Amino acid sequence: MVKNICCIGAGYVGGPTMTVMAYKCPEIKITVVDLNQKRIEAWNSDNEHMIPVFEPGLAEIVMKVRGRNLFFSTNVETAIDQADMIFMSVNTPTKEYGKGKGMAADLKYIELCARQIGAVSKNDKIVVEKSTLPVRTAEAIHSILDNTGSGVKFQILSNPEFLAEGTAINDLLNPDRVLIGGQDSPEGHAAAEELTAIYAHWIPREKIIHTNVWSSELSKLTANAFLAQRISSINSLSALCEKTEADVTEISRAIGADSRIGNKFLTASVGFGGSCFQKDVLNLVYICKTLGLEEVAEYWDWVIKMNDYQKHRFADNIITTLYNTVSGKKIAFLGWAFKKNTNDTRETPAMYVADILMNDLANISVYDPKVSEQQIFTDIAHVNGKTDEDNQKQLSVVADPYEACRNAHAIAILTEWDMFKNLDWKRIHDSMMKPAFVFDGRNLLDAEKMKELGFYYKGIGK
Ligand code: UDX
Ligand code: UDX
Repeated sequence: MVKNICCIGAGYVGGPTMTVMAYKCPEIKITVVDLNQKRIEAWNSDNEHMIPVFEPGLAEIVMKVRGRNLFFSTNVETAIDQADMIFMSVNTPTKEYGKGKGMAADLKYIELCARQIGAVSKNDKIVVEKSTLPVRTAEAIHSILDNTGSGVKFQILSNPEFLAEGTAINDLLNPDRVLIGGQDSPEGHAAAEELTAIYAHWIPREKIIHTNVWSSELSKLTANAFLAQRISSINSLSALCEKTEADVTEISRAIGADSRIGNKFLTASVGFGGSCFQKDVLNLVYICKTLGLEEVAEYWDWVIKMNDYQKHRFADNIITTLYNTVSGKKIAFLGWAFKKNTNDTRETPAMYVADILMNDLANISVYDPKVSEQQIFTDIAHVNGKTDEDNQKQLSVVADPYEACRNAHAIAILTEWDMFKNLDWKRIHDSMMKPAFVFDGRNLLDAEKMKELGFYYKGIGK
């Protein structure tokens, strides 16, 4: 019976996942550790606005279980030493150097974790891969852990996370399925059963799927690739709709009513963002290339190319519509996060759209209800490589949506925050340069109402 769990990585996955696990398993002590001391201090804050991950419902549960059976700490070694089961939930970004640059997953943090677990452990442990990993990573972890010379035995399980940000708590409490990949051996089965017993505290056993380790690892990449592919497919058609009389929302509704297709993930947008889709598809492409499967690699690569095309198309459309130049014009950005109800900005389309418009010398004024000014400057610097001082000449972040829009030539909606629907759009129209343009990258607003108010309104795929 597992009594003591350690999770390495207190990020968007590790934090919420362990919070829900601690909430549902009061008899298990869970310690979430991270190298980043500031992050751990924030998780330990008594002010719920300081919790580093914004997720609806998360802070309330943290306040209930923290100090009861959930702990956040930077003392990685002690937590590893005391644990029966260790979750690895560190980040696996796309590699930015050397072999596989721009495509392969960078596994240096995973390797570091494995080495640390190997060095510290004095008794047998189950190690669970939570981070998205390329197929056969478990093998690499195995080879590190099997060669520590300490005699300690490790079982490696793959247990990929399927939560989506913004709905993480609900996804964790009511998942469609839990996937556990383990070795086909008595010890492997026993380890998988230990983990199953934990989830069975709140998830019906028939929803817990067991596979071998490789299938589990590949299923995570496949699930994200299929979801991303649906968005790229509908986005490709949004371009066609814009050239014809068809309306992409009507198409989504019509095809989504076919139960074989289903109605989810068919919303055309400025493009998908987030830490997972691009990284995981690129990773799949890289694996296929490495294995000589050129056609398969190329097939999936188009999901990414279509997403890049969509972001460019959106930005180009703004420039073309504003009489072929945005030089010196003020463009208001409503939203910066990659989707609503999160403060996460990784791979957000907003930063790429901003970069294109800034190259055309636009002045951008950003309002987002949850993303900090500092984060927005970090993001844009990541794309264009410029200093904050240089970027400040063209980009400003404001705390009020009306201020962002005042005297703007155009508004671009980049995130589908509910609050944008309820703004006083008449007041905004009155305060803008005329004609007042709105480019709705999320098809969030009521087109007819906006046109009645006098806006030139352009949605996606309309
Ligand atoms: C990460 C991966 O990106 C994703 O592929 C996987 O499915 C789950 O884990 P996320 O939790 O969103 O997702 O990443 P992030 O918010 O960056 O959190 C990772 C944390 O690990 C960071 O707080 C980082 O400081 C910490 N970390 C990283 C360590 O504690 N030790 C390390 O060696 C490396
Ligand atoms: C995704 C997967 O859904 C989740 O299972 C996995 O564990 C991690 O990656 P996440 O990136 O948090 O989750 O959010 P998701 O809701 O999938 O949205 C990803 C991006 O696609 C967002 O930018 C979103 O706005 C966009 N999107 C989503 C669309 O453009 N259209 C859609 O129909 C759905």
